[in-house]
Amino acid sequence: MARQFFVGGNFKMNGTKESVAQIIDNLNKAELPSAVQVVVAPPAPYISVAVAENKQKTVEVSAQNVFDKASGAYTGEISPNQVLDLGAKWTLTGHSERRTIIKESDEFIAEKTKFALEQGLSVILCIGETLEERKSGVTLDVTARQLDAVSKIVSDWTNIVVAYEPVWAIGTGLAATPEDAQETHKGIRAHLAKTIGEKQAAEVRILYGGSVNGKNAVEFKDKADVDGFLVGGASLKPEFVDIIKSRL
Ligand code: G3P
Repeated sequence: MARQFFVGGNFKMNGTKESVAQIIDNLNKAELPSAVQVVVAPPAPYISVAVAENKQKTVEVSAQNVFDKASGAYTGEISPNQVLDLGAKWTLTGHSERRTIIKESDEFIAEKTKFALEQGLSVILCIGETLEERKSGVTLDVTARQLDAVSKIVSDWTNIVVAYEPVWAIGTGLAATPEDAQETHKGIRAHLAKTIGEKQAAEVRILYGGSVNGKNAVEFKDKADVDGFLVGGASLKPEFVDIIKSRL
């Protein structure tokens, strides 16, 4: 089964009601190829804005994070049910900014992933190594550890998309080379084949994230295991459309 090309836009903690509405409006007007699945993740306060503005349903909307409980005394947290209630269908989990700045553990990220799936959200599970880890040659050990935490408690990966985002490439302008990304994606898929089975591993989409822009996206075109992108900075700009169209 061919894996559908997927492009995610992670707005991070950027934007206003107006700018988020404007981005969705631009995407609606851009005649996006229907063969591409496009998911945008605005900051939580603007999920409703994105859903309301998405009149032509050209994109799907995601949260950037959720908690692993449905409701209760968890000040400041957001439950998967609330995200669904707002009309979004996705959430990110495990973004490196949450792993490093908020100090989320592999286990906590796995619990959140499991709970989000159980509640009915699809999940973009982010993984990736730091520069030090890369220099020490342990990239695939790190991604395996991050994935194993999830595969230990989640057996059905149908609604998971994996985003490989090397930390050293995020927001730095230094994207991984398409060859490096392909090699790592291949290693990630090979590892998944051992843990979640060959069929699921062959079907799961593995996105590359880290300094993807309107120019370099096309360079990944012939990389067999790069099934799309998770885009940060460039998803806030008109060039996001070029990234979405980069496989045409
Ligand atoms: O989640 C997307 C991301 O972390 C990559 O960010 O700005 O390098 O595209 P950026």
